[in-house]
Parts: sequence; structure tokens; C-alpha cells
Amino acid sequence: MASNTIIFGGSGKCARHITRMLAAEGHNVHSVIRGHGQRSDMESLESLGAKTIIQSIEESSIEDMASIIKQTKASTVLWCAGAGGGSPERTQAVDNEGAIRSMDATAQAGVKRYIIISAIDVRDRQGKPEPEWYDDGDRQRSERVWNMIGPYMQAKFTADRNLVTENARRGLEYTIVRPGGLTSDAGKGTIAAGKVHLSSTISREDVASVVVECMKNGGTKGLAFDCVGGDTPVRDAVAEVAKEKIDGFAGRY
Ligand SMILES: NC(=O)c1ccc[n+]([C@@H]2O[C@H](COP(=O)([O-])OP(=O)(O)OC[C@H]3O[C@@H](n4cnc5c(N)ncnc54)[C@H](OP(=O)(O)O)[C@@H]3O)[C@@H](O)[C@H]2O)c1
Repeated sequence: MASNTIIFGGSGKCARHITRMLAAEGHNVHSVIRGHGQRSDMESLESLGAKTIIQSIEESSIEDMASIIKQTKASTVLWCAGAGGGSPERTQAVDNEGAIRSMDATAQAGVKRYIIISAIDVRDRQGKPEPEWYDDGDRQRSERVWNMIGPYMQAKFTADRNLVTENARRGLEYTIVRPGGLTSDAGKGTIAAGKVHLSSTISREDVASVVVECMKNGGTKGLAFDCVGGDTPVRDAVAEVAKEKIDGFAGRY
């Protein structure tokens, strides 16, 4: 049966793949995009099968977001937005505060299913133990990334922690998808998920497949899991994470 999905950050690169995949399966996609003269964005998203809604995340209140979620009659809210690691102020406004408002808006609109694309290695590095499967390569990579884009990682961390710790109040059926470094390569249809190392990249098209698979696999509700490039078909990798309840964020926030 056709379902309605709303995507915050609908004009983003992962979001476009998700839109195409959902539309191909007959689902309705509503893309929230910024309103700075994005006629070409609107046309290209509509050609993928989406309906566009112009509303800047930074300028949207919880009520604004809840109102568009309700209008679309969405059963799933996807957060694919991000300030792209630009200024720390925009990163804070979009990746942290905007994401948290979207969580409250989803709850306010009465929608349960909420899936957010976060990032691998988002965690409390000072206060909590490092993942037990990390090796020296992971440690060095983690140090390098946090030194390079600390405000971005911290913004994602604060949003993800809020999603998990405030869920008694919101009651969302959330999934946090935590990909490694993204590429624009064509998807392979295979990944590694769960307890993975940080070095492998993953294509945005494969991340999109992971998100779409999470929508189909209810066992991913309540989980935050890592995914990178690998050799396991997306459906099997996600099924394994769901079955074993592998959560890369638990105990690290
Ligand atoms: N790059 C990596 O290696 C990496 C690794 C792990 C996770 N991630 C995360 O994965 C997610 C998806 O990545 P991606 O490459 O698909 O991202 P992307 O192409 O940069 O898409 C992000 C989208 O967010 C939108 N956005 C930003 N500010 C907005 C605002 N105020 N109002 C409405 N929309 C706004 C952008 O719109 P505009 O085009 O108008 O700016 C853009 O369409 C992001 O959250 C990213 O942080 C990235």
C-alpha cells in the first residue's frame, strides 16, 4: 500500500536517492527544501516523483514543522538534512537545533516513525568508553575526524542523544543510521553494518538503500547502528542488526 513520507533536507544527495527508490515502489514523497530560488531543485525533485514544500529548517518552529508533517499525512519522517559541515553556527542551527525541533514536531504531529541520518563515531568521547571493537586505526581516525570537524560531530551527538534520552516524552519509533564517510559512487547494494571499523567509506546510494530498508524492517525501531561499505546485501545486513539488536550508540552518550 502506498505510504506518505516527508523528508527534511529533501534536496540533499542521499535524500534524492531515497526519493527515487520510494517513488519507484509507488510511495508518496514530500521534500522539504529551502526557499532560496531553488526552481531547478523543485523541478528535479518533482521529476524524481516528489512533491516539494519550501520551508527553511532554520526558520521553522516546532509548530511550523508539525503543521507540514500533518498536511502531508506522513506516516514516516526522514531527517536527511545537514549544514554540510560549514559554519559552526549553521551546523548548530541545522544539525543540532533543527533536528531536535523535527523530533518534537514529529511527536506533536502524532507520527511515530522517525529515521535520522547521523554519522559513525558520534559519541561522548570524554565521558564514555570507546567501542570495544575499535583498533588503533579506528582510534587514530576518530582523533583526526573529531579534531577536524568537532563542532559538526558534537552537533550530531547532541541531537542523537536528545532523540534517545527524550523519547519517553516523545514516544517515537526512531532509527539512527550512522554511515561512515560518504561517496557519490554508484551503490553496490552491499554494505557492512553493526560493529564495523571507521575506515571504509559508503556510497550515498547505499545509505539511501539502508534507510529504505529500515522503513521496511520494524526490528530497526529503537536502534542506532553504524554502516560502511562492505559485502553483505543491504537487506541481510539490516536484518542482522535488527535481529541481534546491535546498537553502536548505546552506552556511549
Ligand atoms: N559527508 C559525509 O562524509 C557524511 C558522513 C556521515 C554522515 N553524513 C550526514 O549524512 C546526511 C546526508 O548527507 P548528504 O551528503 O546527502 O547531505 P547533503 O547533500 O549536504 O544534503 C543536506 C541537505 O540539507 C539541506 N539543508 C541545509 N540547511 C537547510 C535549511 N536551513 N533548510 C532546509 N534544508 C536545509 C541542504 O539544502 P541546501 O542545498 O539548500 O543547502 C541539503 O539539501 C547529512 O546529515 C550529513 O551530515 C555525512
